[in-house]
Amino acid sequence: MKFLRAFFVFSFLFASSANSQNYNNGVVSSANKLASQTGIEILKRGGNAIDAAVGVGFVLAVVYPTAGNIGGGGFMVISFPDGNSTTIDYREKAPYLSTRDMYLDENGEVIEDLSSFGHLAAGVPGSVAGMLYALEKYGTMKREEVLSYAIELAEKGFPMEKELANGLKNHKEEFSKFDGSKQLFAGDWKKGDIFIQQDLANTLKLISKHGRDGFYKGRTADLIVEEMERGNGIISHKDLVDYNVIERPALYGNYRGFDIVSMPPPSSGGICLIYLLNILEQFDLEGSGFKSSGILNVMIEAMRRVYADRSEFMGDADFVRVPYKTLTSKEYAKKRFTNFTPGKAGNSKDIGPGKDLIKEGDNTTHYSIADKNGMLVSVTTTINDTYGNKVVVRDAGFLLNNEMDDFSTKPGSPNIFGLLGGYANSITPGKRPLSSMTPTIILKDGKPFMVTGSPGGGKIITSVLQMIINVVDYNFSLQAAIDEPRIHHQWFPDEVLYEKGAVDKVTLNVLKDIGYSFVPIGSFGRIDAILFNPDGSMSGYSDRRGYGEAIGY
Ligand code: DON
Repeated sequence: MKFLRAFFVFSFLFASSANSQNYNNGVVSSANKLASQTGIEILKRGGNAIDAAVGVGFVLAVVYPTAGNIGGGGFMVISFPDGNSTTIDYREKAPYLSTRDMYLDENGEVIEDLSSFGHLAAGVPGSVAGMLYALEKYGTMKREEVLSYAIELAEKGFPMEKELANGLKNHKEEFSKFDGSKQLFAGDWKKGDIFIQQDLANTLKLISKHGRDGFYKGRTADLIVEEMERGNGIISHKDLVDYNVIERPALYGNYRGFDIVSMPPPSSGGICLIYLLNILEQFDLEGSGFKSSGILNVMIEAMRRVYADRSEFMGDADFVRVPYKTLTSKEYAKKRFTNFTPGKAGNSKDIGPGKDLIKEGDNTTHYSIADKNGMLVSVTTTINDTYGNKVVVRDAGFLLNNEMDDFSTKPGSPNIFGLLGGYANSITPGKRPLSSMTPTIILKDGKPFMVTGSPGGGKIITSVLQMIINVVDYNFSLQAAIDEPRIHHQWFPDEVLYEKGAVDKVTLNVLKDIGYSFVPIGSFGRIDAILFNPDGSMSGYSDRRGYGEAIGY
């Protein structure tokens, strides 16, 4: 194929691309180098940021099966050169045969792993429909050309990175439980092995030829439904044919004069991010000192309140009333923080959701793309857990998601990220599970300033928050803002998780003394972002916590 040659010449040219350079024509920051190279190649061929985003999305499904997908869903936030924005919701949906209590036993207890492992954990996938919707409406290139990169990588193979080889090896036992997964993934992989995925290439060719019908109808749909039948899953042909993409107005906030453009429900990401920023804006972060005990006290208490509200009020706004105007208002953020006592740790048992204040009456990867015309695309996509529900659709070569676990399976019972939920996020056929994905774009005076987002389950929101304040309040470089160790609090469990080095020893002791319980955690969040410099040039950076790469030209 003619693209292959170009691809490898290109790989060579950018093999040593540095993350901190400035570029004028475009940047792609993603969790995988081959995916970022594809995006740049598409931009160089004259495609816009949407063409690049869709090319990157399909390539991630091939080279980054940990989270890249066609069997999952996602959110895309777009900012156009004229400053207008939109979002595309291609979140998974609960199948028609789903029921509120489908993961409970006859005693009303949650059946372990049922919502997260195996066929019944899968929601109806939205990624293919969503990416093709974006391409047809806002892209400029032909579907066949955009998909050719992914098809070629699936068919010809690519050398496995050590992270992928180890990841697959570590999940061998789980993969061995399902025919399709066993055939595709359950090997003794090692770095440098060439990973060829012919079944996936065939599926991608059907999508290339027939558009969304190549996935939601015909052979691929038949294979998904057959896979469901093998494992007592419930996704039907009707679920697939009826899957709908929803274009939604973006959610807007403002933080110290910067315009925040983010994802509305069914993500909680945009609401929570804006709500957190609205609380932090009441304090002089810069003047109070970076990560001083006073500021950490404020941040943790803000997180406690925001995640309490998340559990109570947020769900798919097409099914439940989500008071997002209130939740993202400056007034609410003020009222909600009146019970904050500086120098004192709050208690999640006492600080519930702000019910009386509401009067109005939910493994993942992120990529950020900017083109030379100022079109910005921020995409977070997921199959939820690492390798989703671990089930590869036999003969179709792709993993399914376990997004049903993002619903509240039972009020008060935590999901795999320890997040709580209630009625607003209960299971109903056709409903989309509440997400924490926070694909975000920031504009300053109508001009591009930042494109950002992250994986990390419930910790996505707090990862994105800290990266933003590190740039806006503390003037960190993009790399420093992302690399800086993070903290996280999500109401329950009532503890502050922290990455190594996030809080210095003295401050840690001060905070422990006033009542906080601190728990160290390996690392979380993997931000892929772009920052615009005052001269209009841009730089990109891919989180040190992952093994992606930001490339520009
Ligand atoms: O939509 C959500 O919030 C989750 N399904 C995201 C999962 C995730 O980020 C896992 N990756 N680390």
